[in-house]
Amino acid sequence: MCDKCKGNYYITTPIYYPSAKLHIGHAYCTVATDTMARFKRLQGYNVMFLTGTDEHGQKIEDKAKEAGVTPQQFVDNIVTGEKGVLDLWKLMNISYDRFIRTTDDYHVAAIQKIFKKMYDNGDIYKGTYKGKYCKPCESFWTESQLVDGKCPDCGREVQDAEEEAYFFRLSKYADRVQDLLENTDFLEPRSRVSEMVNNFIKPGLEDLCVSRTSFTWGVPVDFDPGHVVYVWIDALFNYMTALGFENDKYDDLSSFWPADVHFIGKEIVRFHSIIWPAMLMSLDLPLPKKVFGHGWLLLDGGKMSKSKGNVVDPYILAERFGVDALRFFLLRSFPFGSDGNFSNELLINTINVDLANDLGNLVSRTVAMAQKYFGEKLPTEQLADEEKDAELIAMVSGLRDQYEAEMEKYAFQNGLALVFKVISRANKYIDENAPWVLAKTEEGKPRLAKVLYNLLETIRVCGGLLTPFMPATSEEIAKRLGGARMDWESLNTFGILPADVATVAGPALFPRIDVEKELAALEELSKPAKPAIEIEPYTEEKVDFDTFCKSDFRAVKVKACQNVKKSDKLLQFTLDDGTGTDRQILSGIAKFYKPEDLVGKTLVAITNLPPRKMMGRESNGMLLSAVHTEKGEEKLNLVMLDDAIPAGAKLC
Ligand code: ME8
Ligand code: MG
Repeated sequence: MCDKCKGNYYITTPIYYPSAKLHIGHAYCTVATDTMARFKRLQGYNVMFLTGTDEHGQKIEDKAKEAGVTPQQFVDNIVTGEKGVLDLWKLMNISYDRFIRTTDDYHVAAIQKIFKKMYDNGDIYKGTYKGKYCKPCESFWTESQLVDGKCPDCGREVQDAEEEAYFFRLSKYADRVQDLLENTDFLEPRSRVSEMVNNFIKPGLEDLCVSRTSFTWGVPVDFDPGHVVYVWIDALFNYMTALGFENDKYDDLSSFWPADVHFIGKEIVRFHSIIWPAMLMSLDLPLPKKVFGHGWLLLDGGKMSKSKGNVVDPYILAERFGVDALRFFLLRSFPFGSDGNFSNELLINTINVDLANDLGNLVSRTVAMAQKYFGEKLPTEQLADEEKDAELIAMVSGLRDQYEAEMEKYAFQNGLALVFKVISRANKYIDENAPWVLAKTEEGKPRLAKVLYNLLETIRVCGGLLTPFMPATSEEIAKRLGGARMDWESLNTFGILPADVATVAGPALFPRIDVEKELAALEELSKPAKPAIEIEPYTEEKVDFDTFCKSDFRAVKVKACQNVKKSDKLLQFTLDDGTGTDRQILSGIAKFYKPEDLVGKTLVAITNLPPRKMMGRESNGMLLSAVHTEKGEEKLNLVMLDDAIPAGAKLC
């Protein structure tokens, strides 16, 4: 740990199943974790932020088979391939310190040692597994846990399963886990505690099946070939192997374990708050300090999920609105512990109201006024007005500590609400002090300078506190304020900017979005891509070979091409057809080509059609082209040949 640091802080996201491309629901948890990690760094902690991918299990094995690749190739593509997990975290500006893949050699070897240790201490034993299995969730269930005969997590069909298997003595730890849940703050929000205790512990915690023989894509049990370790043991211990537990790859266990918090989605609270602590108890290891089960991002009232197919593409959203706006929206719009309904309309409105109107406007107006009235720097002669300034200054001065208290509770929405209350207050302060009136007289200038200074200082503090949420935006705001300080210490004090602060103008931070237009555009994007053409029915009637051969198709070279006067359709071609005499063809394609672009090209003409008069000119043949419709618009392409083909060459 460094001297200046407040201490070490270890935070994790769930490791993701790379069974399909990730959607915005996945980004939700990772953005929240990133925000918390950045907040802790801002406070002065030495942060370890871990994320990664959970790559084993039957689901992955099945998907790979479907795709005709090996499981390793399959996960490699989704993790490291284009627009894969790593790309997505880069796009979302996720500042993870370490990324673990459960297929990493060091992790696999460590899981084997961990499994063996629990076997040796008697907490893992061999028995027969009879029960129900939910493939998409990789979860085993007993009959009594099913809801209407279906998986209690996802509501899908389960399968009968019976086989020789290893079991973990989960039942042995039931009392200790219940005590942990009921009598400590281990699991938050507290509302999730009773669900765990009433639904899983009180009915009697059964031992957990922790090996499988029906598939091979997992960590092999090294002392019993044919068995692979249950994917959740493999997955949960990632939080420790990534620090060097039972391996030499890393050596940070003493600095960062126990974890300060595991952020996870609510459907995996059972694994993290019952199975995980029980396994740690079995190995006599310290428990993580906290597990926080956040809510789901819902789409039309249901969980977004890759298996349901209703996926919202974070790449499209980030491209259209910017990464910071998207990050902000996720944490501003929903309390972290509850579910939230995602909609494009809510996203756009949030950007317009908070970011374009409130924050963006405050920054633009203030910097623009500073520049307009005083040029680059504010004058140092400034006149305070106790009565008019007191409220704003008090709000800004108290902001950091109030915000900190909310952030420590993972109440991101509340933390942001505090900042935006001050931003609104500052916009009102502009109207109250009417800088444009002060600017009219020389006597008004010192007061005007003070008003602008107070506004810039408010922007500095708010901008600084937004850093964990919108890192790039905060950096830009600091730049507009002449490279303002935004370190944690400075955010607790009003009056850090020098009196003669130099401002830098720039474009609007968040341009206002036209709601109707944008919704229509998104709607269009979400439609499946239409085929470029309607395929015309093929002609059933056969043409005999000799008849076909009577059509004389030739390569022709364009010697000259011009528009036909008084016609917006026709082009007149002068063609070299190899005979030594020019051939003239008229073609109704002026809408699609500029004449000068066609000179020198080698085209295809049918040459033995009877001559036709068009606009008083003779056409001797017809040029071949392909027609299709793109986005409702007719397109035409002339058939062009390689220029190496000489004029007059016969096509057959
Ligand atoms: O569960 N809203 O992986 P996963 C909010 N490999 N969060 C969502 C969401 C949504 N619509 N959809 C998914 C796994 N998530 C395991 C974790 S940890 C040792 C192993 C969240 O890819 C979900 O709640 O299915 C979970 O926390 C995370 O994305 C990863 O989900
Ligand atoms: Mg899941």
